[in-house]
Parts: sequence; C-alpha cells; structure tokens
Amino acid sequence: MEVLVLPDADAVGVLAADAVEALVRSKPDAVLGLATGSSPLAAYRDLIMRHRAGTGPSYASVRAFTLDEYVGLPRGHEQSYRATIARELTDHLDLDPANVAGPDPAPEGLATAGERYERAIVDAGGIDLQILGIGSDGHLAFNEPGSSLASRTRLKTLTALTRRDNARFFDDVDGDVPRHVLTQGLGTILDAQHLVLVATGAGKAYALATAVEGPVTASCPASVLQLHPHASVLVDEAAASGLARVGYYREVAAGKPDWQGL
Ligand code: GLP
Repeated sequence: MEVLVLPDADAVGVLAADAVEALVRSKPDAVLGLATGSSPLAAYRDLIMRHRAGTGPSYASVRAFTLDEYVGLPRGHEQSYRATIARELTDHLDLDPANVAGPDPAPEGLATAGERYERAIVDAGGIDLQILGIGSDGHLAFNEPGSSLASRTRLKTLTALTRRDNARFFDDVDGDVPRHVLTQGLGTILDAQHLVLVATGAGKAYALATAVEGPVTASCPASVLQLHPHASVLVDEAAASGLARVGYYREVAAGKPDWQGL
C-alpha cells in the first residue's frame, strides 16, 4: 500500500484525476470503478475541467461501474447513486450513458441483483481502477463493519452512523435516508486492478489510521486494502493526522522515482 500525504483536498483531487487520466490514455477502453460521496468530488471536478479545456483524454470507449446504490428510492431519485454519478461526473464527459452501470435496486430483482452486477463487471473485463472513499466507521462502499472480507455484491443494511452521515443529502434522516443498499462486496473491490482511496478532513483521521495501520479485520472494512497488491491512499494533512508512520510515508514519497506513477 502506498500512502501519499498531500497538502489539501484539491491536491488529493488532482492526483486522483491524474491516475484516471493516465489509465484512460494508456487504455482508452478502460473500466472505471466510481465512488459517490463527497470525497472524490475534487477529482471529478478536475476531470471535468480538463475535459472541457480539451486537455483530457476521450472517454468515448470507457465503461464505468458505481460501487453501490440505495434500495427503496423512487426510480430516478436525485440522491440515487446512479443519478449522482451522472450529475457529478459522467454526464460531463464524452462517456456514453449506456456505458455507466450500477447495481439494480428494482424491488422485484433484489435477490439476483448482486449476481447480475458481478457478471456485468466480469463481462466488461473487470475494473481497472477503482476510486474509493472511506466512511467514518471504516466502511468501504456500503460494506459496514462486520462485512465479510470475501463478500460479493449483495444487499446490506446501513448502520445508524452511516445513515446520519448521509442525512445531509436528504431532508429528514429518519424518514428519508434508505436503510438498505446494494453494494459491491469487499471481495469484489479486491478484484479491481488498482485501488485509489481518497480521504480528506479530520473526520476521517481515525477511520483511516485504523484501516491503514490497524489489523486487517471485518470490524474495519477498509482495512481490506492491506490485502491488495496495488492500493494507493491519497490523503490530506487532516485525514493523515492519526497515522503513526506518517514520517515514513513522506520519506517514501520524497524518494519516489518519477517513472513510477501511482
Ligand atoms: C458513503 C458511500 C461510500 C463513500 C463513503 C464516504 O456512504 N457509500 O462509497 O466512500 O460513504 O462518504 P464521503 O466521501 O461523503 O465522506
């Protein structure tokens, strides 16, 4: 795992955007894994800005899969992750909407939705680069503490903390924030070629330190990154404030050869 401590959230966004662009330039039909939430927004804004400026690559052959989806929202709801990722990123690139997929939350197909999503990812050739955020309880996608480290896409129940964290997107936490979700499993996430986790702000410091420097445990789902051979963790100073080995991470970064990339 490589941990890069950057001055602020904008710098985190630039580096994550660089990684996406480098991949798409080298592999125009790359398969991207996209996270929703606030953490990747700086990266998405940067990708859009570069695309509009004409300096970014073409996304015409790119395919994208979201990490997770709420269950129980009306179809097309603005807070569904399908609508969110379109609004925050994919609608602003030359990416065919038909090439953007998410787990299907239709009530009649929930029992098979996970299996169908897994198959769709495999049929696309697997995810090349997966963008990730981390929940304040250490959740990854919507894999809450206790999720199997080998889990696959399936239905999950959100914790009260996650519902509270996400209440800012809804009018009323008790009434509006869905209790159930479909999420890529931790085993699904581990199958991606490259994991790029972005975390900013002091609110993520404890979860990040637990994930990066604590034991690998289902009690901190994001600790599963320690099992991945190519995981990049991009954090700002505030999110890095709980890391014990921060001096070492800085030393590694200072000596990193230019050719290496993320
Ligand atoms: C959400 C999402 C995750 C996201 C995490 C952190 O509930 N399901 O994919 O990474 O929680 O969210 P944020 O980036 O808004 O802090």
